[in-house]
Amino acid sequence: MNLQALPLPYAPGAISGLSERLMSSHHQNNYGGAVKRLNAIRAQLAATPFASTPGFLLNGLKREELIATNSMLLHELYFASLGGDGQTMEPAMRLALDANFGGLERWREQFGACAKALGGGSGWMLLVFNPREGTLVNQWSADHTHALAGGTPLLALDMYEHAYHLDFGANAAAYVDACLAAIDWAGVYARYKTAVHAASEGFGAEQGDIANSLVLDVRRAGVFEKATTQLPGAAWRDPADVAQWATDLPHDRPVTVYCVYGHEVSRATALRLRAIGVDARYLIGGIDGWSNAGMPVEPRGQRP
Ligand SMILES: [Fe+2]
Repeated sequence: MNLQALPLPYAPGAISGLSERLMSSHHQNNYGGAVKRLNAIRAQLAATPFASTPGFLLNGLKREELIATNSMLLHELYFASLGGDGQTMEPAMRLALDANFGGLERWREQFGACAKALGGGSGWMLLVFNPREGTLVNQWSADHTHALAGGTPLLALDMYEHAYHLDFGANAAAYVDACLAAIDWAGVYARYKTAVHAASEGFGAEQGDIANSLVLDVRRAGVFEKATTQLPGAAWRDPADVAQWATDLPHDRPVTVYCVYGHEVSRATALRLRAIGVDARYLIGGIDGWSNAGMPVEPRGQRP
């Protein structure tokens, strides 16, 4: 059963700053080559008598299988990571960058510098969601094989020379800048949302289940300011600053955080609190679901 290469998600000349020739060649030769190689390796493995094959041959095949598989997957993520304007994004994606890096500009500075540091060498720069901590991390990956265990890559930047030499020669820094200006953050956000939801399943609190909790309103600052109500007794904490206030929370009682709908804002915050030992849950349905169920609210408090 042979895998098929996926088509580019846009016309090869559609990415500003990267030529049609470069994108076509990269897609057909390097990505397409990885898919073909993976098919060949799998066919070879299917015909291999494992018990009687020397270890060094098995080692080589399994190593090459992993390299080809990750090359295929990361190239698909790379192509999917481009096609935007590098800055337009959902408020919840912007919040995630604020909470993890101090904002888009600081993320870009860190990610770009790490990518440029790979110029002249090879490897991938990845933005990865770490479900253990509910965090985003910039990760280096060499030889297509380094992965943050359990992590979900959300954005990939190919730093192998074939990704840029046709257009940029040895000027890897200019290639990195062109890619950063073409990131499709809508796609990154869609992958982030899916990953956060999967990681936080099982950590939701039902509406009738929060009586003994410390209740924290973690709606984004702009949303909180426009709101007129909050849950009774709730205190607002800025989810962008979770790293600052998380260490002040008690470890001897449950904490319930809520946002508007119980999506990634409160879920990611709950994951971050759980990682440092707080018994944190997110409110299923958020304050919207709470209000719609006829549960009591009070006028919202002031920002601390
Ligand atoms: Fe590549």
